[in-house]
Amino acid sequence: MNTIAIEDSLGLTVCNKQQIAIERGLGSYVWDQEGRRYLDFTSGWGVTALGHSHPLIVNAIATQAAKLMQNPNSGFTYSPVRSRLLAKLQDVLPDGLHRVFFANSGAEANDGAVKLARKVTGRPIVIAVSGSFHGRTLSTLSLSGGRDNAARYLPIVPSNVFAPFGDIEALAALMSDQVAAVIIEPVQGEGGVQMPPAGYLQDLSRLCAEHGALFIADEVQTGFCRTGSFFAVGAAGVSPDILTMGKGIAGGFPFAAFAVSDAVAEGVQKGDHGGTYCGNPLGCAVAETVLDFLQNNKIADRAHAMGAMILQRLESLPAQYPEQVRVLRGSGLLIGIQMHSDAQVAALTSACLHRGLIVTPTRNGVLRLIPSLLVSEQEIDEAIGLLCSALTQLQAEYGQLSVAKSA
Ligand SMILES: Cc1ncc(COP(=O)(O)O)c(C=O)c1O
Repeated sequence: MNTIAIEDSLGLTVCNKQQIAIERGLGSYVWDQEGRRYLDFTSGWGVTALGHSHPLIVNAIATQAAKLMQNPNSGFTYSPVRSRLLAKLQDVLPDGLHRVFFANSGAEANDGAVKLARKVTGRPIVIAVSGSFHGRTLSTLSLSGGRDNAARYLPIVPSNVFAPFGDIEALAALMSDQVAAVIIEPVQGEGGVQMPPAGYLQDLSRLCAEHGALFIADEVQTGFCRTGSFFAVGAAGVSPDILTMGKGIAGGFPFAAFAVSDAVAEGVQKGDHGGTYCGNPLGCAVAETVLDFLQNNKIADRAHAMGAMILQRLESLPAQYPEQVRVLRGSGLLIGIQMHSDAQVAALTSACLHRGLIVTPTRNGVLRLIPSLLVSEQEIDEAIGLLCSALTQLQAEYGQLSVAKSA
């Protein structure tokens, strides 16, 4: 393990970043080159939703790879596995989203969604919200309102505008007949597991309809059972015009998609969108396997129940570690621990790693837990034990860090 010191803006060492060479994984665990085992509560940014190297996924890749990886694209062929996946997606997508485009990453799906929204409406403006994250391509960066915003890559897409997250009046004030779409994560992931206020998504949906703007739900992180329902918009009772998917859709294989309403589809012509690898048979085979597994095993209900259990077992943290933990929140197996500062999150991430627990820091002083959707009760207990041990260590040490910073 190589250790690198990380300094904050004042030049003080706030944590030591460990570089660990991860060699293999199975279920909720990964192993480094020295054979040390780690409990992975990141799922590789929410990707390995069925755990690492799930046998069904490994088998789907091997079987399809031996059959066909890329379709001959003469314009006269189609792939049966792609057709099956398209049909099965209809069982889980919100009502009315009948046309699906495939992509290779979440950013590419969002990029395609925004591109088609502008084409179909003939309007230039896209509204996003503060704290959002939609990807790192130039167009999606231009719609991301957080730390990785586009200031370093000017000029950005000039017609994008931002409203504060959760403020429906501010959003209404930006609406006009020039707005093509509003893009939003139903629960903000990278922004620190932020939930919108009650009624916000419904109001947003209504507002879009009133102004002829499209409602784009970015479910790249929240979709495929992560938040305890197949899609978070389903739990909120809203139907977007476009819904984007990625990460857990193929459990670790790079794959993504976006689905559009019939009305949007009517405005799309052949040749408007596509890409060499989009919807390749290999990715479709893996996504079909994941989809079947999630449905056959009622994984959305499981994620809901396990998420509630984690929150309940963590509920004493703010009282137990008041100088560090402010509040907990979560939706299914997307859980945020709100601390007092980013420095605390960095220190806790590092202390957890030393104990063999991998967690991910997000913005705004939030540590995020995204375990596998198949995480067991025993693994949850193990993670909580390691987390509390790390917090106890920092409880003793962090006071000194705060004093040093303010000196
Ligand atoms: C909500 C959301 N949208 C889009 C993306 C970008 O996805 P990708 O990294 O696959 O391009 C992410 C990645 O974290 C995300 O969380």
